Amino acid sequence: MAHHSFDDIKVALEKIKLLNPYHVTITGGEPLAHDNWLEILEFAKVNFPVIELFTNGVLLNEEHIRSLSELMDETDYIQISLDGLKETYKMQRGSDDFDAVINNIKCIVQYGINVRVNMTITHYNLAEMIDIYELVKALGVTSFSISPVYPLRRGKRLVPLVDYEKYLYFGKKIEKMHSRSKSDMNLTVIYPIEIQSKRAEYTVENIINQFNTDLLHWTVDGKGDIFHFMDQFSYEELKIGNIYENTLEELSKKDFQIQTNLLSHSSKGLKCANCSLVSSCPGIAYANSYPDLAFNHRRCIFNEKTEYTRSITESRE
Ligand SMILES: C[S@@+](CC[C@H](N)C(=O)[O-])C[C@H]1O[C@@H](n2cnc3c(N)ncnc32)[C@H](O)[C@@H]1O
Repeated sequence: MAHHSFDDIKVALEKIKLLNPYHVTITGGEPLAHDNWLEILEFAKVNFPVIELFTNGVLLNEEHIRSLSELMDETDYIQISLDGLKETYKMQRGSDDFDAVINNIKCIVQYGINVRVNMTITHYNLAEMIDIYELVKALGVTSFSISPVYPLRRGKRLVPLVDYEKYLYFGKKIEKMHSRSKSDMNLTVIYPIEIQSKRAEYTVENIINQFNTDLLHWTVDGKGDIFHFMDQFSYEELKIGNIYENTLEELSKKDFQIQTNLLSHSSKGLKCANCSLVSSCPGIAYANSYPDLAFNHRRCIFNEKTEYTRSITESRE
């Protein structure tokens, strides 16, 4: 897909600035594939209090990292994806860049920039969760996050292949190891709906709810289309608009409509009223609960009527 020009992106960022966001993340695709990626970040830093760069870390070099260290302050972050050790990295990412990425992580640490390493869990790398935790802790990174693969693009095929019991087991093990270690690295393990929804069956407690329910968040895709989160990209009805084509007034109006629809959802008469997650998922957990977003392999039956409601409806027909 052709990139938007730096001038277009500046106009978009200026529009977003009128909303006074605290935090802007430059991500992709791969942001470093844009010729003006560093100028885009510089422009973002002049206009927004906190910036983040999400990258695969492959195209970075020391000169870039030095420039970033001059630009970024203690509130800013570079997030680098590291999805496995050398062979697994190649399998999951389809490229042989493990060594280059590790070198760049070391360099970012040396230049004193906050770096968060993110590992996206699939069936390829699940068994290496602990290895990657140990590796990044030894590298001295600021943060390590473990996140599930989402049913987006290639992820649709990958989600059902993950063993979520093992995900929970390794996640809890790392959390325990980390709480006993002296490391000051921040650790975040995100447990997906496949685990959250079964928590009553597991003896392990304290599975924190981490649904994305922050309606103030906007995610802008490569075409400029805006959604609250990336897991909504396939759902036209959750599209707020386009940052290049719509005025801020149009965008705010549509956002208000979408938020109203989500927030006014009622589970009355639906099976989802009996869901183990209903108290933490009042219909706004997006891909996990919104009717059209309930995937077969997910346990959400948001829109399905209870026997009682169905029999009443049928008797009226
Ligand atoms: C969308 S990428 C963009 C930045 C950069 N290209 C990278 O690889 O980090 C940001 C993060 O999203 C993750 N990601 C990509 N597709 C995903 C999916 N279907 N489910 C979950 N995470 C995904 C990547 O692993 C990466 O950690």
